[in-house]
Amino acid sequence: DASDIEKGTYPHYMLKEIDEQPLVMRKIIQTYQNEQGELTINPEIISAMNESDRVYIIAAGTSYHAGLVGKQFIEGIAKLPVEVHIASEFVYNMPLLTEKPLFIFISQSGETADSRAVLVKVKEMGYRTLTITNVPGSTLSREAEYTLLLHAGPEIAVASSKAYTAQLAVLAILAEVTAKSQNIRVDFDLVHELGIIANAMEVLCDSKELFEHISREFLSVTRNAFFIGRGVDYYVCLEGALKLKEISYIQAEGFAGGELKHGTIALIEEGTPIIALATQESVNLSIRGNVKEVVARGANPCIISMKGLNMDEDSFVIPEVHELLTPLISVIPMQLIAYYAALHRDCDVDKPRNLAKSVTVE
Ligand code: G6P
Repeated sequence: DASDIEKGTYPHYMLKEIDEQPLVMRKIIQTYQNEQGELTINPEIISAMNESDRVYIIAAGTSYHAGLVGKQFIEGIAKLPVEVHIASEFVYNMPLLTEKPLFIFISQSGETADSRAVLVKVKEMGYRTLTITNVPGSTLSREAEYTLLLHAGPEIAVASSKAYTAQLAVLAILAEVTAKSQNIRVDFDLVHELGIIANAMEVLCDSKELFEHISREFLSVTRNAFFIGRGVDYYVCLEGALKLKEISYIQAEGFAGGELKHGTIALIEEGTPIIALATQESVNLSIRGNVKEVVARGANPCIISMKGLNMDEDSFVIPEVHELLTPLISVIPMQLIAYYAALHRDCDVDKPRNLAKSVTVE
């Protein structure tokens, strides 16, 4: 429906798509629920998960970052080992595979040539394949054995936002349904937790002014920026840095908190912005230790923490959600900060230079 892809009152598709995330969450919960209110997935897909001894996630760009979080979900909830690979690397530099791999392709567009090259190759080798995509009937969907849809609605802005959180939600559901089929105990109710996520997303989307302010304070004059986090926060930092690079052209990198001091700390100067994510209790103190290390060298810190783990010096506190699912909301400050940074710099938010929404060449 063409009216679905109008900008309406929004100045940019990206802002509209960021705002749609709570709706997309609710749509996903609804679509993946059966009449009894339980989450459900095509049993053939669940059998493919259960018959495999390892999942290989293949993706590019933002979808690769979703894959990294997906590994945490599938290993943490379904206890199935997962490897995550960049499509363009995997095709030439294949790792030693296990006996019964299942390949999961994550792709918003379903058209990424790098991912398709892997799909063609592993199909020739006789392996099982599943595509998680936003576009029904797309190439990766048609050519894989199975498909799971994101139901995020068309994503127009080149920089992906709602597709990323939709990918995370679908991966969490896949992990949960697989775990239950194996009688693995899941100590939380995912439907309930995703509902909490949708509400928390709304709170964040209503805090735009604050993110505009943070963006102005930390990113208006800088040439570079670093994002640091530990564990799953690190993966969200990779995505945060990519968002900022893509649309504001500020040179940005995401680092594992403890790794910064092994080289990159040399780049810290007076005023270098460091955006730190602290949503995980087990590493809350250590990531704050890393912030102190860079502040001692002049960095300008912006700490985004989760309620319950927050401290006085934090710039923004996100609502409390299940610890495993924090990437679904901690990415929203990253998206909004990048959006406003691009806006403040007069960049073309929806159509950044040199980038295409789907890259159909290898
Ligand atoms: C392009 C886009 C990125 C996207 C990547 C993967 O490079 O500019 O935003 O993350 O492709 O796209 P896919 O459709 O496979 O998720």
